[in-house]
Amino acid sequence: MTGPQPPALRMGIVGVGFMGRQHVELIEASSRAELCAVADPAATDTAFGCPAYRDAGDMLRAESLDAVIIANPSGLHVDTAIQCLEAGVAVLLEKPVAVDYAESLRLVQAVARLDARLLVGHHRRHHPAVAEARSALERGVIGDVVAVSGLWSARKEDAYFTEIPWHRERGGGVMLINLVHDLDLLRHLLGEVAEVQAMVSSHARNLDVEDTVSINLRFESGAIGGFLASDAGVSPWGWDQSTNDTPAFPFVPDGTAYQLVGTRGALSVPNLATYAYDPSVSPDWHSPLSRTYLPVPAGGAFPAQLEHFTDVARGTAQPLVSAEDASRTLALVEAAALAARSGETVDVAKFRAEELDPR
Ligand SMILES: NC(=O)c1ccc[n+]([C@@H]2O[C@H](COP(=O)([O-])OP(=O)(O)OC[C@H]3O[C@@H](n4cnc5c(N)ncnc54)[C@H](O)[C@@H]3O)[C@@H](O)[C@H]2O)c1
Repeated sequence: MTGPQPPALRMGIVGVGFMGRQHVELIEASSRAELCAVADPAATDTAFGCPAYRDAGDMLRAESLDAVIIANPSGLHVDTAIQCLEAGVAVLLEKPVAVDYAESLRLVQAVARLDARLLVGHHRRHHPAVAEARSALERGVIGDVVAVSGLWSARKEDAYFTEIPWHRERGGGVMLINLVHDLDLLRHLLGEVAEVQAMVSSHARNLDVEDTVSINLRFESGAIGGFLASDAGVSPWGWDQSTNDTPAFPFVPDGTAYQLVGTRGALSVPNLATYAYDPSVSPDWHSPLSRTYLPVPAGGAFPAQLEHFTDVARGTAQPLVSAEDASRTLALVEAAALAARSGETVDVAKFRAEELDPR
């Protein structure tokens, strides 16, 4: 028998644009949280059925909140998160954790100093297919992972860049908006990356921010891989098209984002198709391949993320994506950007160490 449910957490949202409005809907659909206030200079007083403030400070002073979701432009993330943590509320901070690795470490230190509760919004980690994929890898379903290939490409509407200035500025390109999700998930599935190479292009949109990037990765496990991301190219391939996570991105049945190849089989994610040779013939390329779908439990990443956040806010769970963890993903994106600028292979651990101690 389950006991009485604890009262819904009193939540505020900072930034109610594209992503913030999704958080509004998620809170409205949850019995564990209640939307009590929003803070956004562009929000009208009545739009969300709760008090609206011009900025986070005004909201924190006027309201008694348990938790805040931060979905403002990425360049504001660290200062806003520290402001909320210092006010004593738990924080769900949208990705990327910051637009600069060194700056993200300021947040990591603040979380430690304040013994604070903070979850970073790499929502894909909460998708049931991801837990299932990790479990399959741990069980050795495809043997040792040899390599991975991944793709995220979708053509964003031109207004995304013309009407929202911060999308044309540092942090608004495909690397920190989209690739950061994929690199976070690849770290989650395959472990830390040792080395990265990259080529970046802004050829398709001709903006200051990059629209397309191609990277090569060497994981500490010894596996290698490649990933291509573009916000200018039409494609059915990528996490957002392959799941029902975001209704604004139409679903492509049986789409995939990552293909993992192992010594005994192959796995595509998130549709969780596994492929293996027929062992009664021979365990190699002369044998027919069979395909089996691993079961994907029902549910989406965002509701699961919100549920987990309420546990983090109540202090009954440690964050699945901590500030420190997310800052490592950010460091990997920056290491890839450095690799693209320099044309050289970047050692990711060395990059992090040099950023910590820039002499
Ligand atoms: N998890 C995901 O899949 C996902 C998807 C989209 C965006 N995001 C992240 O969410 C964040 C917001 O992205 P978006 O696409 O919603 O952008 P957006 O431009 O649509 O919305 C940002 C909102 O923040 C508001 N804002 C600006 N300055 C502010 C301030 N000082 N205080 C409070 N609000 C302020 C703007 O008025 C706007 O309404 C970004 O960090 C982005 O990376 C995450």
